[in-house]
Amino acid sequence: MFRSNGFQWILGGLAASLLAGGLQAKTITISCGAVGAEKQLCEEGTKAWSDKTGHEVKVVSTPNSATERLSLYQQLFAAESGDVDVFQIDVVWPGMLAKHLVDLSEYTDGAQGEHFEALVENNTVDGSLVAMPWFTDAGVLYYRKDLLEKYDMEVPETWEQLTDTAKAIMAEERDAGNDRFWGYVWQGRAYEGLTCNALEWVASHHGGTIVDAEGEVTINNEQAAEALALASSWIGNISPRSVLNYTEEEARGVFQSGNALFMRNWPYAWSLAQSDDSPVRDKVGVSALPKGGEDGQHAGTLGGWQLAVSRYSENVDEAADLVRFLTSYEEQKRRAIEGSYNPTIPDLYRDEEVLSAVPFFGELFETFKNGVPRPSSATGDQYNRVSNAFFNATHEVLAGKQEPGQALNGLEGQLKRLGRRGW
Ligand code: GLC
Repeated sequence: MFRSNGFQWILGGLAASLLAGGLQAKTITISCGAVGAEKQLCEEGTKAWSDKTGHEVKVVSTPNSATERLSLYQQLFAAESGDVDVFQIDVVWPGMLAKHLVDLSEYTDGAQGEHFEALVENNTVDGSLVAMPWFTDAGVLYYRKDLLEKYDMEVPETWEQLTDTAKAIMAEERDAGNDRFWGYVWQGRAYEGLTCNALEWVASHHGGTIVDAEGEVTINNEQAAEALALASSWIGNISPRSVLNYTEEEARGVFQSGNALFMRNWPYAWSLAQSDDSPVRDKVGVSALPKGGEDGQHAGTLGGWQLAVSRYSENVDEAADLVRFLTSYEEQKRRAIEGSYNPTIPDLYRDEEVLSAVPFFGELFETFKNGVPRPSSATGDQYNRVSNAFFNATHEVLAGKQEPGQALNGLEGQLKRLGRRGW
């Protein structure tokens, strides 16, 4: 009783001091992702800002698929709706959404200078800082270290080794009675996540990044065809056929319940795999994704999310203040420790508490620093069409409906038509 009265008094006091300062308590609406523990972490962060400022925050969750989330945002923006003040936007969206977003540099007091320069550059469109970096991402390989030890096998360095190791251990585990055990799970649904996976296969074989930095369509090449052929050989063999409909969370579900040897995912899956009730707790290792053959290279697609303020918001000052709070050092530190979300502030990769919660942040620093960017800067507001064409062509190959060469030929034609008048 006493505590709740005390609490109300503090809240009342805050609202009163806001009002005394001539300010009114506002309600800010933020759209947050809800993949894994994302929504909970967002709610905790926004609550801390509410407690500090006296403003209220409403958290709306959005579809898990980045592709579906984008189309929801595009509808809201097309209607010039002020319903959502703060948007969580993907690293590949600033170019597409810039015209609907506020220039945050007027509100940040230079705080963007603490973040990775490449991300700030990515989020700056025609001189305007349209979003602040919130967390970064790169595709990584999760493996069952207990099973590799049991069968005396190594963490794979190449995709070919991954294929062989997965086949061998899958056969053993199935013989031992687990007929639901699979070698490799990843994201194969026709959506943005497949663009990320397939770009990794292609780039790791030196097959380029679909469209290069000069806007040239480069995808129709032999290394890319080889990469797609290898991936399609996994379906029904080391990966369940249902992987063709997996996003991040379906892959994590199989891996975390103990039914897969390898998984491709983003860093967020680490803290969930390590949670108290996880069947694979302390049995998991994380490494860079394999190379495409001995002469190939490690390639993890650069992902990550930013916070942006809508031009149609009626509360731009408060919304920008919330963005500044959520993207700060302290809040990124909390999210790194509790949810293994990669900070966008380089100093946090030297923080002992962060490194002890997520050891691979230090070990894989180069993977995060050298993430392979999708061609969103080169293709500007056409990026979504480019990505859709790429994941659809890839999906056709994986589903056995087209040969890699044929699919890449068709894709090249489609992309050249899209880029004909310049991107
Ligand atoms: C992750 C990445 C994001 C990417 C998405 C695809 O959320 O951070 O950049 O677009 O996955 O599924």
